[in-house]
Amino acid sequence: MQKLTATNITDVALSRFGKATNERLREVLTSALRHLHEFVREVRLTPDEWKAGIDFLVAAGHITDDKRNEFILLSDTLGVSALVDLLSHARQPAGATDSSLLGPFYREGVPEMSNGSSIANGTPGETVVVRGLVTGAGGRPVADAGLDVWQAAPNGLYDLQDESQPELNMRGRFRTDSSGRFEFRSLKPLSYPVPHDGPAGELLLAQGRHPYRPAHIHFIVTAPGYETLTTALYIAGDPYIDSDAVFGAKDSLTVHYKKSEARQGAGARATAEPDYIEFNFNLVAAERR
Ligand code: BEZ
Ligand code: FE
Repeated sequence: MQKLTATNITDVALSRFGKATNERLREVLTSALRHLHEFVREVRLTPDEWKAGIDFLVAAGHITDDKRNEFILLSDTLGVSALVDLLSHARQPAGATDSSLLGPFYREGVPEMSNGSSIANGTPGETVVVRGLVTGAGGRPVADAGLDVWQAAPNGLYDLQDESQPELNMRGRFRTDSSGRFEFRSLKPLSYPVPHDGPAGELLLAQGRHPYRPAHIHFIVTAPGYETLTTALYIAGDPYIDSDAVFGAKDSLTVHYKKSEARQGAGARATAEPDYIEFNFNLVAAERR
């Protein structure tokens, strides 16, 4: 029997792989095993540390259910989700809108609303109008594009996390008009902490990091013939814009509130119009990749 050492055990383990059933999976597993062994050697992991790591993963499994996935949260807070996203969009054509993390709070099946509607359902907060264009090849407007939008309420919670909010609160689905324009009303989003009462939170604390995401509004933009764009708009000036706990914020997706012109009322009294955000989503033609 071959004598196992702390050096040769990696090659021995790799040599046990049988005939590949899937070449890509073999490539990924080979690299994962090499890196994992190298990590253990590099830090000279002790048995107690190994046990603490296993207990951590077990705790992440126990807190995971259909509303909360601690493994995605760990991937997000360790920057792995953002890295996968950056790699998969590395060859974007110039001018295409950057993508950003989907996050765990997206919900399918939100009914379509007419342009100009509010997604706030009477929730208290400061109104903001969000409007812009969806464009495609050559900057041409894309009519009939779908925009799924969702965000946390001003209390920092998504409807899924907060039973006091109406069903599908702060969510909407809109369609661009014949000139590629969309518009909806919402509430100014605020920064909020990602769930940090479990293992991912413990890890943030151990790293001396805060759990906050800068204020943002999520979007999924779809149109036939174009790649689906999953992104978010981040609010300039937010205290966490440069230290997003999940590494999703980008300069190109950072927006400023703009002041609307006050409308003259019938009695010559100016009525205050809500601030607005204007942003154009530039899609990539589906055949480009
Ligand atoms: C979010 O923006 O909804 C989110 C993203 C990653 C982890 C937690 C929340
Ligand atoms: Fe979010």
